[in-house]
Amino acid sequence: MASVLELTDVSFVRNRNRILDSISWTVDEADRWVILGPNGAGKSTILQLASASTHPTSGTVEVLGERVGKVDVFELRTRIGLAATGLARRIPAHERVGDVVLTAAYAVTGRWRERYESFDLERAAEVMDAWDLTELSTRTFGTLSDGERKRVQIARAVMTDPELMLLDEPAGSLDLGARESLLESLADYASSSLAPAIVMVTHHVEEIPPGFTHAMLLGEGRIQAAGPLEEVLTDANLTATFGVPLQVQHEDGRWRARAKRS
Ligand SMILES: Nc1ncnc2c1ncn2[C@@H]1O[C@H](COP(=O)(O)OP(=O)(O)O)[C@@H](O)[C@H]1O
Ligand SMILES: [Mg+2]
Repeated sequence: MASVLELTDVSFVRNRNRILDSISWTVDEADRWVILGPNGAGKSTILQLASASTHPTSGTVEVLGERVGKVDVFELRTRIGLAATGLARRIPAHERVGDVVLTAAYAVTGRWRERYESFDLERAAEVMDAWDLTELSTRTFGTLSDGERKRVQIARAVMTDPELMLLDEPAGSLDLGARESLLESLADYASSSLAPAIVMVTHHVEEIPPGFTHAMLLGEGRIQAAGPLEEVLTDANLTATFGVPLQVQHEDGRWRARAKRS
């Protein structure tokens, strides 16, 4: 199986603060990973590295067979789908939803003078249908609810038919109904044999979509455990990562965790 992402002994230091420490991690093309860990653990920083948005202080990052730092990152980034809050902030509030999705074909936000092929228009229509956005296509981004915005961000990432999909807390701040319907869409997407490798960051085991295969537990910049979901999501591993006694349950493809009763 081909690996799409390979971090080797990666450290990331800012202001003398070791944000990531000796991370070695491989993602294969059929993998669907979730990265779990408390606030400030370094989860978003890993996605920044995986999307070639930043460079490691030491160690190497290989994305889609290319060593970050040695290739044209602009070309590489068009092969990666990233849905993160920081990116959403750069989407102009007055931009129409249809254009937010379509402009992903050029890795830009804000429609300007690009010429779109009919192929791009058809693809945008198909993606908006899959992510329940067709009815919102003429609305402006600024008028959407949080849940609708998350869908648009993911559709934008899907639009380019990426070889690696990175999702930073896609279900964060959603209400129960919006969360559940987003998880259903993510599970559908992840179950397709045509879907790319996926890495999704979350704080909650409840947000792991059915069909995901692997988990990394990250605490204070270090990997606490990584591997197949069933091996990693144990009471002991979650307790060590989050620093409180936790017990975890797995039922019908979904996960739940809560404080262990003494
Ligand atoms: N560019 C940066 N400069 C300084 N500190 C940073 C930078 N990026 C992240 N950090 C710090 O690194 C830690 C990990 O950040 P982050 O990866 O966003 O964590 P998470 O996504 O797990 O909450 C945090 O303490 C954050 O404040
Ligand atoms: Mg984060």
